[in-house]
Amino acid sequence: MERLQKVLAHAGVASRRKAEELILQGKVKVNGKVITELGTKVSNSDTVEVEGVKLEKEQKVYYLLYKPRGVISAVSDDKGRKTVTDLLPLHIKERVYPVGRLDYETSGLLLLTNDGDFSYALTHPKFKVDKTYVARVKGIPLKEQLRPLERGIVLEDGKTAPAKVKLLSGERKTNKAIVEITIHEGKNRQVRRMFDAIGFPVQKLKRERFGFLTLHGLNAGDWRELTTHEIKQLRVLAETGKIGN
Ligand code: URA
Repeated sequence: MERLQKVLAHAGVASRRKAEELILQGKVKVNGKVITELGTKVSNSDTVEVEGVKLEKEQKVYYLLYKPRGVISAVSDDKGRKTVTDLLPLHIKERVYPVGRLDYETSGLLLLTNDGDFSYALTHPKFKVDKTYVARVKGIPLKEQLRPLERGIVLEDGKTAPAKVKLLSGERKTNKAIVEITIHEGKNRQVRRMFDAIGFPVQKLKRERFGFLTLHGLNAGDWRELTTHEIKQLRVLAETGKIGN
């Protein structure tokens, strides 16, 4: 269910503010009835008309992007920085937006879609979709020093759920280590803050996996469409926390 003005804006009828005006002016009908309430929510099965013209239902689209560093996970940026939607081909007419966020400096797997329910299911922490990151950190942590991340660590906005953590390599000469970490929450800058909290700041961060999806076959800046099967599997994963065999 989405707010009527958002649905109108996404369908390209008008900006969200203009869409609100249209609603207040009684120019919008839902299932044949004039609606002037701004909070009204509609679903994909509702028929929406604006000034007597039926809204075309936008086809749902799903992309997997290998986000490079130095790109913002947003649809537009007031500072003029490159956004993730700038990396998709120009002919895509649907208004897609990122499923969750990766920091400006983080690279890796990012999904984009215009399917609000799908996006909600995959990002809400109660649905527990695992995300795996590879971090290059300053210093070489001992196993015991990584343990707090596995138990859950208190950050300013609450305790993190237990993470799976694996030290992949460490180099004495440069005093750096590579650590793999899997979490299912999506607090702001979570991985960076978790490593800060144990005294091993992240220097470089990449999201390698999202659920069962990987970056296999893609270079930074590349994208592909998800297959119908992957979309179904992701819905199952979000609902049940696992993929059936
Ligand atoms: N955690 C972070 O710190 N940054 C990201 O971009 C994603 C997870």
